[in-house]
Amino acid sequence: MSEVSAGTILVVDDEKNIRRTLALVLEGEGFEVLDAASAEDGLAILARRRVDAVVMDVCMPGMDGLSALRAILQDDADLPVVMISGHASIQDAVEATRLGAFDFLEKPLGRERVLVTLRNCLQRGRDAEELRALRAQSRTRSRTGLLGDAPIIEKLRVQIDRVARTKARVLITGESGTGKELVAREVHERSDRARKPFIKVNCAAIPHDLIESTLFGHEKGAFTGAAGRRRGHFELADGGTLFLDEIGDMSLSAQAKVLRVLQSGELTRVGGEQPIEVDVRVVAATNKDLEQDCREGRFREDLYFRLNVVPLVSPPLRQRPGDIAQLVEHFLEQVCRENEFRPKAVTEGVLRRLQAHDWPGNVRELRNIVERMAILSDDVIGEDDLPADFVRRTSEAVAGPAGELFELGSLKDYRDAAERQMIEARLAACDWNVSRTADTLGLERTNLHKKMRSLGISKPG
Ligand SMILES: Nc1ncnc2c1ncn2[C@@H]1O[C@H](COP(=O)(O)OP(=O)(O)OP(=O)(O)O)[C@@H](O)[C@H]1O
Ligand SMILES: [Mg+2]
Repeated sequence: MSEVSAGTILVVDDEKNIRRTLALVLEGEGFEVLDAASAEDGLAILARRRVDAVVMDVCMPGMDGLSALRAILQDDADLPVVMISGHASIQDAVEATRLGAFDFLEKPLGRERVLVTLRNCLQRGRDAEELRALRAQSRTRSRTGLLGDAPIIEKLRVQIDRVARTKARVLITGESGTGKELVAREVHERSDRARKPFIKVNCAAIPHDLIESTLFGHEKGAFTGAAGRRRGHFELADGGTLFLDEIGDMSLSAQAKVLRVLQSGELTRVGGEQPIEVDVRVVAATNKDLEQDCREGRFREDLYFRLNVVPLVSPPLRQRPGDIAQLVEHFLEQVCRENEFRPKAVTEGVLRRLQAHDWPGNVRELRNIVERMAILSDDVIGEDDLPADFVRRTSEAVAGPAGELFELGSLKDYRDAAERQMIEARLAACDWNVSRTADTLGLERTNLHKKMRSLGISKPG
């Protein structure tokens, strides 16, 4: 029966005859069979080996089958377990099903019945796996979407699309939390390498003495602790994309080695002799000023030029406050879904406050704040729900030339945002004394009140 793709089955039974018969039947159908004469031995095998299904007797000396079933499913709820019994009571069968056994068969075991059941088992395993893969995929997909429709983001999107079609190296720069990793993933996803691996290496997180073996792998015994042969990240990314994150934190000696691989297209594992050819698209990212680092001798200029074939810039959030509403809605929806909350929304006032903030931590900071508010507040998130430190920081922010507000739509939006920023800052400076604030702004008190109302400004807390 060639349509059955072979799998590994663990047979647990204290009767030697049953183990032998099952092994004969199953091996004849192309399965690999492991066997254990007791539940304890069976559990020990499962701790070491991955199997596709278990066939297990209910009555065994020592630990009984039902207890073992419980232990197995606690460890891996998706592993199909078929219980078998010679003197089955209905009660056992009910209990096994309640615990989550895949099926319950009575001895003597009919050959066809066993095979049909196991085939169903394996199919369920495959379905579960496929489902997991699909779920993971849709999770990454919803995570990778680069949100926003500010002109700078649209431009970035076009650049990503263009560069993705090539094999050119990409250097992504931008402040912390602006989405550099997201950009790197998009470059990969939109390229013809999308089905091959995307391997991320955080250059700042790898200890200096391990960077070489992490990136290029090592042969068995290459150094103390190198127990077996190991493939490095460059090899793992073969055919796909290697994302060198925080490249600015890589030591000069590691830079030299990476440069050599980029120049030659091949690498040698630590302790190895044969050069290995790899086909890898390198995308690097940093929040440092690499040109400056080159001038000051912290970064190799030759490597910089090799990496920076196509520069992409991930813009800070304060340059696109118009995208904040969309981002807030997205993160809010995400947090509520993940936590199984009812849908929540923010008020206009909150949105305006968020738009006036300067976001030193960029999108990551915005996401954190939205998450915190979603967890701590009721269905409608109001200004009172803004974190206290956030309120203080926004009010302290001095309205500069407001250049970043240019991303707002109409002239009126721009004027409103600028006025709001200035009035809020001045009110905070005057302890929310409206008369005094009006004085310093050169306005009548009643006029300021009217403006505050129309701009939705109110005293926090
Ligand atoms: N345009 C965007 N649309 C949707 N989510 C975004 C966007 N930009 C950033 N994010 C989200 O913000 C968070 C931070 O993004 P990411 O990790 O890519 O930033 P980074 O630039 O790599 O930061 P760091 O320099 O600190 O590593 C992530 O959760 C990411 O999904
Ligand atoms: Mg990052």
